[in-house]
Amino acid sequence: MKIKNICCIGAGYVGGPTMTMIAAKCPHIKVNVVDINNDRIALWNDSNVDNIPIYEPGLSELVGQTRGKNLFFSTDVNAAIHQADMIFISVNTPTKTYGVGKGMAADLKYIELCARQIAAVATSDKIIVEKSTLPVRTAEALRSILDNTGNGVNFDILSNPEFLAEGTAVTDLLNPDRVLIGGEDSDRGRAAQQALVDVYANWVPKKQILTTNVWSSELSKLTANAFLAQRVSSINALSELCEVTEADVNEVARAIGSDSRIGSKFLKASVGFGGSCFQKDILNLVYIAQTYGLNEVADYWEQVIIMNDHQKRRFAKKIVKTLFNTVSGKKIALMGWAFKKDTNDTRESASIYVADYLLNEQAEVVVYDPKVTSEQIYSDLDYLGTRSHEENRRLLKVVKNPLEAVHKAHAAAILTEWDEFKHFDWEIIYNNMLKPAFLFDGRILLNHNELEDIGFNVYTIGRGE
Ligand code: UDX
Ligand code: UDX
Ligand code: ADP
Repeated sequence: MKIKNICCIGAGYVGGPTMTMIAAKCPHIKVNVVDINNDRIALWNDSNVDNIPIYEPGLSELVGQTRGKNLFFSTDVNAAIHQADMIFISVNTPTKTYGVGKGMAADLKYIELCARQIAAVATSDKIIVEKSTLPVRTAEALRSILDNTGNGVNFDILSNPEFLAEGTAVTDLLNPDRVLIGGEDSDRGRAAQQALVDVYANWVPKKQILTTNVWSSELSKLTANAFLAQRVSSINALSELCEVTEADVNEVARAIGSDSRIGSKFLKASVGFGGSCFQKDILNLVYIAQTYGLNEVADYWEQVIIMNDHQKRRFAKKIVKTLFNTVSGKKIALMGWAFKKDTNDTRESASIYVADYLLNEQAEVVVYDPKVTSEQIYSDLDYLGTRSHEENRRLLKVVKNPLEAVHKAHAAAILTEWDEFKHFDWEIIYNNMLKPAFLFDGRILLNHNELEDIGFNVYTIGRGE
């Protein structure tokens, strides 16, 4: 079967960039991206492509080349479902905040709503592709809804998890290490799998397109994220040990990373990992293991999260301890709010937790981030529910100029590894700060010897003082 029309439900960080790449590489396929969020769709359609709702290097150019040709953004979900041969489900699957599995399991209500809508609207056979990260065996639930509420048409379900990382979405989509497509073991299932293989084969070498059964594909996504996060927690655990010995975590990372069995990537100690996936997927893995009574498996993976929470808290505590055990009324500049550089995404960012800790200690927190809006920063804090909406706005300030952030500050803390921080004139910043001027580098980003020569008291992750 040759796919001519694709619908993607969900115009977020996954759906938006992925569909843009498919449209760019498959001019013969019409791609409709739909979302129930009017504002988001309006931004995707903004006449100035720089206003698209997601910041990713290279993305707006690609949208500019394809939008209105074979890539369309709309809120008319039904029309897009109706036309499509293949439907990607790319809606959010946050951690449940209520009921059974609260704080652990993935909330599948958005997925279920999509499935019910597809079943109600479809009048021809469709291939349904799970793009969102889902718990193992979600396809089974999807099948049950589609088959029991549909109009008698056939649905084939594929799992095609997305492995792109934010900040590098365009290059990851262009040159993926692999594309994974899980399908059902039947003639129809294999034909559906082949149809999706053929879409990716327009730009991805065939040997990098892996096909598996649906369950392996679903579990592989959770496992990949769990392994990646585990490496960060492992190096972060060692960073604390380095700080009390005379070892340097960067040197340790380099030494172990040159063992080809270990590999050099993802060994950067930090203030803690964030992002929409790592914590959510591990909690989900832990929950699944517990559901099957596999308590040792659950405890093993939960430790990755425990370590990450510890790392964020320990960094915030270090600031308080260093500033003579009190930050009450002291101005502290947080440089960076995004969970990593080159994205405006802030979900689960370490900055949120560090800011919350410092606000509890009555610090006067000022945030500078080159890409994150002040609305987003306040909404992240409000979401924690630690203090009122008004208090968050009174105690924390967001500024658009880094010099304003550090003006008369007692300390500055690097929380996101934005390249521009490396190019700041730190001498001018030093001159603007109160003395002694403290600098906490939560990303091991800056040249600490130079900073110390300027006069800063520097504290970094993974190296003793
Ligand atoms: C290890 C280190 O590899 C080596 O660098 C160090 O110098 C000494 O310790 P060794 O114990 O000789 O070497 O063997 P290794 O190949 O690492 O295997 C250790 C154990 O892990 C074995 O029982 C092996 O069967 C097991 N293993 C290894 C697995 O179960 N799965 C794997 O994927 C790899
Ligand atoms: C991750 C996976 O990498 C991607 O394959 C999956 O599709 C989605 O989840 P993402 O969350 O976008 O992608 O970013 P990633 O680069 O993995 O970083 C996650 C967090 O770990 C960030 O906060 C980052 O700063 C942190 N990190 C990463 C470290 O602290 N040290 C490292 O060495 C690597
Ligand atoms: P991700 O990082 O997984 O892409 P996002 O939250 O960025 O997550 O994007 C998910 C998008 O899915 C949101 O824009 C949301 O409005 C949209 N969405 C959720 N449920 C539905 C639905 N039933 N129909 C259409 N869009 C939906």
